[in-house]
Amino acid sequence: MTWLDILYHPIWAVSTALLALVVRIQRRGRWDPQACTVQLKGKTTIVTGANTGIGKFIALDFARRGARVIMACRSESRGTAALGEIREKTGNSDVHLRLVDVSSLDSVREFAARILEEEKALHILVNNAGVSGLPRGITKDGLEVSFATNHLGPFLLTNLLLDLIKRSAPARIVNLSSVNHKKGHVDFSHFHGENLTYYMDKVYNHTKLHNVICTNELARRLEGTGVTATSVHPGIVMTEVLRHYPLIVRLIFNLIGFFFFKSAEEGAVSSIYCAVAEEMEGITGKYFDCDCSLTLPGPLARDAALAVKDFEVCERLTSKL
Ligand SMILES: NC(=O)c1ccc[n+]([C@@H]2O[C@H](COP(=O)([O-])OP(=O)(O)OC[C@H]3O[C@@H](n4cnc5c(N)ncnc54)[C@H](OP(=O)(O)O)[C@@H]3O)[C@@H](O)[C@H]2O)c1
Repeated sequence: MTWLDILYHPIWAVSTALLALVVRIQRRGRWDPQACTVQLKGKTTIVTGANTGIGKFIALDFARRGARVIMACRSESRGTAALGEIREKTGNSDVHLRLVDVSSLDSVREFAARILEEEKALHILVNNAGVSGLPRGITKDGLEVSFATNHLGPFLLTNLLLDLIKRSAPARIVNLSSVNHKKGHVDFSHFHGENLTYYMDKVYNHTKLHNVICTNELARRLEGTGVTATSVHPGIVMTEVLRHYPLIVRLIFNLIGFFFFKSAEEGAVSSIYCAVAEEMEGITGKYFDCDCSLTLPGPLARDAALAVKDFEVCERLTSKL
């Protein structure tokens, strides 16, 4: 038997087909949003970063269910294009674009003020907007830019909208984290850009750990209000998330991802599950995996004392005082 015989042996074709089948089943997950008949007519929802990737499919799903959807995006042109697409696909004209740059505390305050002025209720808030691989940068609030975008901006947004959300109970807050939070560390000097290593997803991992920690503490503070807060991992998803990475990394990601990673639509499923599924009613302070299963987050995300401290630090960093 030559090397060529081995290379072209039918066993490879069969095992590749089997592997693809297994990956396909795993990618589909165990909950099907299209089979979920929950309607959101009369409910108001906000999805940040809704112009592309996972956020766009979350907004699309809410629009299909008849919700009033506020797409919170930073780019008017990209937001308008996605808005048109969602309205056209769903026939729901109650979908709106509001501009916000979640990395800027002033922009978040302006956005929240407008929402509080215009909206009578807010039943679902999905903090989806996020970045990975950004180079070092300090915002005009003195915050490290990845931390501002992925954690402190969304943290402030949630707190500013919290009274409205509580008045709208039952209501749900869903925060997009990542399984990468398990590789993150807590060091409060990170918030100001100190002691950070800028290599691949290292900074991102810390920000995603703060997402889970503060979601858990928020859930504890919200006990008895009828408002739940959960964090989710969407899976490894083929989106624009690697746009700040070197070309070679993006090429490899896309090549492998074509076969094995989730599409943006599939990546939206665990967030939609937490936001709308009936069986999620009352479930709070938990972390959900990309197949919608309840999963233990990393050890640091289970440290209740650390969560109290982290939440207080973030409150101080985002307060005007
Ligand atoms: N893709 C994955 O494999 C993966 C894995 C784990 C977790 N996640 C999480 O899932 C969420 C969505 O990511 P994605 O994969 O859909 O990424 P994406 O395709 O890059 O989309 C990110 C969205 O966030 C918006 N955004 C970024 N910075 C913003 C800012 N300062 N203000 C307002 N909006 C901002 C982007 O707006 P522009 O288009 O205008 O930039 C875009 O709409 C993120 O929180 C990410 O951390 C993704």
